[in-house]
Amino acid sequence: MEKAEFVDTYGREPEGLWFAPGRVNLIGEHTDYNDGFVLPFALPQRTVAAAALRDDDRVRVSSAQQPADPVCFRASTQPGDVPGWAAYAAGVVWALTARGHDVPGLDLLVDSDVPPGAGLSSSASLECAVAVALDDLLGLHLDPVELALIAQQAENDYVSVPCGVMDQMASMLGRRGHVLFLDARSLDVEHVPCPLEEAGLSLLVVDTRAPHRLVDGEYADRRRSCEQAAAALGIGSLRDSTLDQAQSLEDDRLRRRARHVISENARVLEVVGLLRQGRIAETGPQLTASHVSLRDEYEVSSPEQDVAVDTLLAAGALGARMTGAGFGGCVVALVEAGAADAITEQVMRAFAEKPFDHPVTFVTSPAPGAGRLR
Ligand code: GLA
Repeated sequence: MEKAEFVDTYGREPEGLWFAPGRVNLIGEHTDYNDGFVLPFALPQRTVAAAALRDDDRVRVSSAQQPADPVCFRASTQPGDVPGWAAYAAGVVWALTARGHDVPGLDLLVDSDVPPGAGLSSSASLECAVAVALDDLLGLHLDPVELALIAQQAENDYVSVPCGVMDQMASMLGRRGHVLFLDARSLDVEHVPCPLEEAGLSLLVVDTRAPHRLVDGEYADRRRSCEQAAAALGIGSLRDSTLDQAQSLEDDRLRRRARHVISENARVLEVVGLLRQGRIAETGPQLTASHVSLRDEYEVSSPEQDVAVDTLLAAGALGARMTGAGFGGCVVALVEAGAADAITEQVMRAFAEKPFDHPVTFVTSPAPGAGRLR
């Protein structure tokens, strides 16, 4: 986005341009809201926000993806005031004021190349872009972790989506060439090097373009099951249980949900251990094991994601798994760099034989987290 687009929309110059990326989760799925471990990385695809403060309390937000009149609301907005995409921006204004910061009116224009509804955290990238813009414009100098929590609060309490903290942390704290090892309980982070190119490897993302069917209700349902399993085990969260303990759960469904979370945390630690030693190629089997567990134990995969994973593996991927909340969306695979094109071809062919949409694929690598563009 150029400043001229802001001038066209609002008839004045923006005070700056800020950005925040989408994310892919390499491994550690449905673990963040169980106080567990995740290993996402920021994508080159990002939301850019141009903004300028106003001297009244009106907020106007526009999106290059939704060309219409700006959505208007007061800086003193409350949950329920603003519907649709603009609620993610309004939620950040609300979360900042809820934490005692003085937010005046502003004009905001956003433009994003993070595909919406693909499980690549387009919403977190929008929230975080607004959060870094306001942090800078208001001279708040908040810690990136605090900004991630503000973005998560916007989504949880303003938009009413009960997400964990992974997406916002990845968008705020991503680093080029590194994956983000996050302990969702302590919020400690370690940037773990992931030199794909040096290792002759690529990360291939397949956006199956399968719509997120029932994702909201199912996500909340999985969270509830985890809470029930933890309560039945007499612990605060599944982070603190072992597979042996999970086996003692009487309810078969809760037992399987708990087994996924516990084994997934162990897989994240295993992958981090391998990456710290530069053994990237050896992480493949853990990625695939994660998919099997999400498919069979946690039951959040979709037919499209299963076909993508099976085809990727049959075509020679070192590991492949669904990424994000599930029920449609993306798959991530670790492949030999030289084989990426041939493997992509196989996926295209497999999808053409099914009653599925055409997938979109891209090779990616970890990009920087949110910041000022200019
Ligand atoms: C969504 C949520 C995250 C996380 C993943 C599943 O992306 O926003 O917090 O729970 O699902 O791992």
